[in-house]
Amino acid sequence: MKNTYFSKIAQTIEPYQWEEGITEQMLRFDANTLPFPPKSVERFLNAMAKRCPINEYADPTYATLKKLIADYEQTDVSMITITNSGDEALDIIAKTFINPQDKFIVQPPTYEMFSIQCEMNGGKQIEVPLIPKTFAMDVNTLIETSKNVTAKLIFICNPNNPTGTTYPQAEIERILTESNCIVVVDEVYREFYGKSVVQLLTKYDNLVILRSFSKFAAMAGARIGYLISNPTINNKFDGIRLPMGVSYLSYKLAEYVLQFDKNWIVKQVQMIIRERERLTYELTKLGCITYPSQANFLLVDLGGRAQEICKKLRDNNILIRDRSTKKYLEGCVRITVRSPEENTKLIANLKQIL
Ligand SMILES: Cc1ncc(COP(=O)(O)O)c(C=O)c1O
Repeated sequence: MKNTYFSKIAQTIEPYQWEEGITEQMLRFDANTLPFPPKSVERFLNAMAKRCPINEYADPTYATLKKLIADYEQTDVSMITITNSGDEALDIIAKTFINPQDKFIVQPPTYEMFSIQCEMNGGKQIEVPLIPKTFAMDVNTLIETSKNVTAKLIFICNPNNPTGTTYPQAEIERILTESNCIVVVDEVYREFYGKSVVQLLTKYDNLVILRSFSKFAAMAGARIGYLISNPTINNKFDGIRLPMGVSYLSYKLAEYVLQFDKNWIVKQVQMIIRERERLTYELTKLGCITYPSQANFLLVDLGGRAQEICKKLRDNNILIRDRSTKKYLEGCVRITVRSPEENTKLIANLKQIL
């Protein structure tokens, strides 16, 4: 087939790299997910067994869920757009702000979908790398670059995937004030950190916050996320999103989780934070270099043995995320913090391999 049939983007695009051949026996330390499904899944499934109007289009405004999210975020429903996932939220952001050749700034190493979704929508990526070793933001260069290239968007991932690093509110406020950009703060891992900039939405109209039910709500398989922004931006997001983009089953489950599982979420997060400390301690004891993390994963430097260790773990049905050949992450892997039993199993396997 002639390549010219395809759009310019499709001519060059490569599919996102996922782990292949995943089976139910595998222990998943590769995807930053929680170890258990939400507590209210059973209650949800029982209710659906009794009444499940899946033949109908459901409420396209997601009014009940938006109200529950507004309560959870302590903000107003007029500031929330429901999306089919955090990744779809990124596509909506790109479509809302990016014209072909518009510049957006990412700070690698960071979540790769920021670049993928913006480039897919014609944007041109500018990199302002995080400072090596500490993974702190280079705020002066970031602001200067945003002005020099007249960037439209800046992405800040807080905590950052894959480093687990966090960024103080004062730095984010400086960027909001001095950059002339829309600043997207990805708070998908916020619960494991405990701090948010949601309250800044009333102070800065160029702030957009990205959220997902995948991590804190243990709902990665359901594909549901949301954006929080001032009502003017939110109206645009609402126009750009698919009118029926989210499955009834997914948003109903999200409603159940926010209605019934808030305490469960708090307990899960506390368990993950405890295990994060233990896993860091155990990995350090094994001679691995771990970076300080405020998320539900650890970036671990395994040096020249990274690929071999990933393969040996996989042979034992344990998956970790190999980042070792990526620029800025040479020799590193990312390990999700899971349940105490699973983490113990991982440590035992690593001990044997090392
Ligand atoms: C930083 C960050 N943002 C957004 C997402 C998207 O999450 P999802 O598409 O599962 O909602 C992820 C997923 O891993 C992530 O790590």
